[in-house]
Amino acid sequence: MAGRLFIETVGCQMNVLDSEMVVASLRKVGYELVAEARDADAILFNTCSVREHAEDKTYSALGKLKRLKLEHPEKIIGVMGCMAQKDQQLIFDRAPHVDFVVGPGQLQRIAALIDEARKGAEQQLAVSLGRRDGTREAIERSHETFDPLRDPEMRPTPFQAYLRIQIGCDKFCTYCVVPMTRGPEQCRTPAEIYEEARVLADQGCLEVTLLGQTVNSYEHRGAGATTRLADLLVKLQDIEAIRRWKFVTNYPRDMSSELLAAVRDLPKVSHYLHVPAQSGSNSVLRRMKRGYTVEQYREMHARIREMVPDAAVSSDFIVGFCGETDEEFHETVELVRECRFKNSFIFKYSVRPGTKACELLPDDVPHDIKQRRNHELLSIQDAISEEDNAGFIGRTVEVLVEGLSKRGMRTAGTQAGPAQLTGRTPCDRIVVFDGDVALTGQVMPVKIHDVTAHTLIGELPAAANRDQLLPLYAGD
Ligand code: 5AD
Ligand code: SF4
Repeated sequence: MAGRLFIETVGCQMNVLDSEMVVASLRKVGYELVAEARDADAILFNTCSVREHAEDKTYSALGKLKRLKLEHPEKIIGVMGCMAQKDQQLIFDRAPHVDFVVGPGQLQRIAALIDEARKGAEQQLAVSLGRRDGTREAIERSHETFDPLRDPEMRPTPFQAYLRIQIGCDKFCTYCVVPMTRGPEQCRTPAEIYEEARVLADQGCLEVTLLGQTVNSYEHRGAGATTRLADLLVKLQDIEAIRRWKFVTNYPRDMSSELLAAVRDLPKVSHYLHVPAQSGSNSVLRRMKRGYTVEQYREMHARIREMVPDAAVSSDFIVGFCGETDEEFHETVELVRECRFKNSFIFKYSVRPGTKACELLPDDVPHDIKQRRNHELLSIQDAISEEDNAGFIGRTVEVLVEGLSKRGMRTAGTQAGPAQLTGRTPCDRIVVFDGDVALTGQVMPVKIHDVTAHTLIGELPAAANRDQLLPLYAGD
């Protein structure tokens, strides 16, 4: 059944990829994408449950569609993503005008769900089994990966793509809802991953980011051979057209020296490592059940610095986790000062129903203290990022051009000459510079003359033209 489709995506890279897959599968059966919900026959929300704020925003967006559905009952509204798996029936209770709820492990059913709804079916719930609702095998089976088709038109740029190598998580950090919403850790076969990478290369992809919740824990046991992430990266190198490989997100304890050696030795693997520490305090790490001490994190970080000296390391932190004292917070500040991360994503702890922390640990840090710690850590991190970025002034970096920057988009069509473009270095640093939008998808040298905490600002050297490429190099 053909029609018009609107999809809104929030959350992590996994969701971005899921949306790409869902849209590809629906385009195949005749749907076309539209930019406004009110113009669509089917409206999808791809949701996130990692923090309460993201869920509140989704419920409020759903609330705003109540009238539209009343006036146009033939329009179908579906909720997918982590909130669908976590809240299930509750979504129908809070938003009775929703037609179906589909978890991230059941996306292969989405075209049928929309069809049934358009034929007048009652509210449909398509979710995976809970972590205690069956044998491991049955639970795994109910969380399927959904990677059927690649659609370059659905990506922000056709030159960059995500490729899922692992789904789910078995780490069960006490604050985190992901092991419940995305199910048990399962790794795709190396053959499947290689095939998909070939398809992406044929579509003109230059940069691929391998995705997994704990991507460096990737391990696939096949006939007589075990493949780990390092082995997979080696195998993938012979796909010539792909110039850059990245992988996110890493788990500190699984950052093996073999993997770091692969990062060091494979010229196309980016020297960018996102390895969330979450806290710099052993007592907090213990309450989070992160499975390592801050000494072990430091040891890992020192090993990265030793083996891949120019690596850009980034991290995530949660501030105001249950019982976090000033002293414990300052241990996190210490770690940030010491590690000098390229950047850190900093979050205020948000209690998540269904997690161990929600069950066992009181959310006792007042909101204003969470807020203050968030600001303090962010300003320390930003100062470090800006200082480190300043070291790029005068240097030329290799940039994969992604298209117009935000400013470039605002001024597009209003001024003559080059527009402001944006792109990334191999180490994932954002660079803006003026140029012709036709350079999108090219790898260009850019000379940096100014910086902020989050951006390098540069210009194309005068001699630069479309054919000029820098020698391949995985660091900045
Ligand atoms: N509250 C706040 N932040 C969280 N994260 C995960 N769960 C929570 C939570 N309950 C953060 C972690 C993780 C990132 C994706 O989100 O830092 O690395
Ligand atoms: Fe969540 Fe921890 Fe798994 Fe990351 S490793 S997805 S924080 S449970």
